Amino acid sequence: MSTENEQDGSRNGASSDTVGDDPDRVVIFDTTLRDGEQSPGISLNTAEKLEIAQQLARLGVDVIEAGFPITSPGDFEAVQSIAREVVDPAPPIVAGLARTHVADIDAAWGAVRDAERPRIHTFISTSDIHIEHQLQSTREDVKGQARAAVAHAKQYLDDVEFSPMDATRADVEFTAEVVQIAIDEGATTINIPDTVGYTMPHEYQAFLERLYAMVPGLHGVVLSVHCHDDLGLAVANSFAGVLAGARQVECAINGIGERAGNASLEEIVMLLRTRHADIGLDTGINTREIARTSRLVSRLTGYPVQPNKAIVGANAFAHESGIHQDGVLKERSTYEIMDATTVGLATNSIVLGKHSGRHALRAALEEMGYAVEGQALNTAFKRFKEIADKKKVLTAMDLEALVTDELRSEISGYSMEFFEVEASSRRPPNARVGVRGPDGEVSEGSFTGDGPIDAVMAAINAATGLHAQLRDFKIGAVTEGQDALGEVSIVVVVDGSSGSGQAVSTDIVEAAAKAYVRALSVAVQRAQQAESAVAVPTP
Ligand code: KIV
Ligand code: ZN
Repeated sequence: MSTENEQDGSRNGASSDTVGDDPDRVVIFDTTLRDGEQSPGISLNTAEKLEIAQQLARLGVDVIEAGFPITSPGDFEAVQSIAREVVDPAPPIVAGLARTHVADIDAAWGAVRDAERPRIHTFISTSDIHIEHQLQSTREDVKGQARAAVAHAKQYLDDVEFSPMDATRADVEFTAEVVQIAIDEGATTINIPDTVGYTMPHEYQAFLERLYAMVPGLHGVVLSVHCHDDLGLAVANSFAGVLAGARQVECAINGIGERAGNASLEEIVMLLRTRHADIGLDTGINTREIARTSRLVSRLTGYPVQPNKAIVGANAFAHESGIHQDGVLKERSTYEIMDATTVGLATNSIVLGKHSGRHALRAALEEMGYAVEGQALNTAFKRFKEIADKKKVLTAMDLEALVTDELRSEISGYSMEFFEVEASSRRPPNARVGVRGPDGEVSEGSFTGDGPIDAVMAAINAATGLHAQLRDFKIGAVTEGQDALGEVSIVVVVDGSSGSGQAVSTDIVEAAAKAYVRALSVAVQRAQQAESAVAVPTP
């Protein structure tokens, strides 16, 4: 049944040089760092975005939409770093989003220009609802803006994508006119967004087929789909678009994105792969990197993956009923349509213990794709030894959590110096903490709270003098078993700006304290940035 290439997890190993040339190749455009990052409560810093982008490159996505550079200096910096630094194992296309304004396009170009393969993605709405109420403009003006924006972007580079936003609720004839203009000006990809997740698969397919009929030039560019999941149809709609002829799918890891999210990358990729015999289309994705990418994105965004989520949920390959277990033990294909190892689950044999040396740690990290050298290796090794003393064995999942945790120590702002908590069932717990501030000074604070973690968080507020409000608190374990590393994700709001922080430790109070201080640092940084940023409504 399966014709999978078990070596690298990719069906055809097609390189991204083939993007747009091969009629059987679907370009995977990942928007985790742009549309995904717009999910409420997510706030990634540059180091975290870079880490995700590097993993997306390992996963083999063709295009990384790295951000919306005009929106803030932080976004610009992150897109620029990704454009400059993400080159292995092959340089992906790095896209920056821009409205049709000259300043947006200039900012997008400034941020992506150093990429080996830069792209500008510009958009304007074609639905009357948006034109009248949001843009407060006219169809004529929209046509003029689309023309000017693509022409302006083309002065900088060849690879220009154009999106008529909210297209699925727009007049198809007007959208066709705007698409024609964008193609006349040289757009190389035309993306048709279902911005509010309203369309149905048969409607979307028909809409795209009508566009093909009305705009013959569409056959000469890459048609792309971008579907939101408000009615749970994002993947089905994206697939309908592919059936209509689209050869780029915009999607996000774990399906994150505005509101209900975007089409989930792992689902569309595994659909094309699992049903290849019937569909006949390929992607360049190394599917064995899917599980790890999903974990990294979940950990850094603080967005957990629901257990029953297709492909990457904890139960996606679990069988509870006796009949199913019996069937799978006799022959896996009785109840499994995919092999868990194909998506990178249960493949890694890395196991380190307290006697493992620096060399073994470096080799293990290298095998997992992390090049950790010099001071970073010393710090990682020190952390590894501390944990290995408490926890007998460390697996690849633990190391992954450790590396991402270390990454977050680079967040500038506040850092945890020490904490003490007294917890008892007889009196309210009391916490005392020391927090180093951005000025290098350590301030102390104490508090008596409802529980030990509550007391620590309130003591941190007292030490910093900040009135941070806790918005979200999640606790989990990195692996199974009693000695598993605890993992805490926290979202706080300071002066109207939210920040998220995560941390791992064998001690959950320590993990919570560190995560809280990190979330606080990000929120403070964002509050400061918000003061200086241009107000841009995000799509
Ligand atoms: O949903 C949407 O329309 C978008 C566009 C910017 C492509 O995100
Ligand atoms: Zn979107």
